[in-house]
Amino acid sequence: MKILLLNGPNLNRLGKRQPEIYGTETLESIELRLRAVAGAKSCELSAKQSNHEGELIDALHEAADEGYAGVIFNPAAYTHTSIALRDAVASISIPVLEVHLSNIHARETFRHTSMIAAEAIGQIAGFGSYGYEMALYALIHYAKEND
Ligand code: DQA
Repeated sequence: MKILLLNGPNLNRLGKRQPEIYGTETLESIELRLRAVAGAKSCELSAKQSNHEGELIDALHEAADEGYAGVIFNPAAYTHTSIALRDAVASISIPVLEVHLSNIHARETFRHTSMIAAEAIGQIAGFGSYGYEMALYALIHYAKEND
């Protein structure tokens, strides 16, 4: 089973970006850990990060066309603004699980709305980088249940 870990804008700066909110772990280290967890569950994890909306849209389309079982997606700030990303999630038939390191519902009001959530199978927010691991377990479970 192939799973895509997809991260949006500014998440390449994890580790040095507002560590009081997003923690001190780098994206590279999160990706390595997730790859190991996936491997232990006989899954193959690919990871992509982009600061560009169109590249994130292309990555979602490609994951669906290349037979991925699902996507773990942190759309970062695009969560709150991007109808194009919402439409991209709606345009593919594979499950997309939305993840946020911080609890977006406990932050500024503009972060309370997710354009993506209604098209995702679910959302995990507020558990830091462990949220990605939770999402991986949940997505594997979901994919097996809905096979
Ligand atoms: C984020 C939350 C977003 O509001 C913010 O724009 C991000 C990161 C998170 O993981 O907590 O860039 O998606």
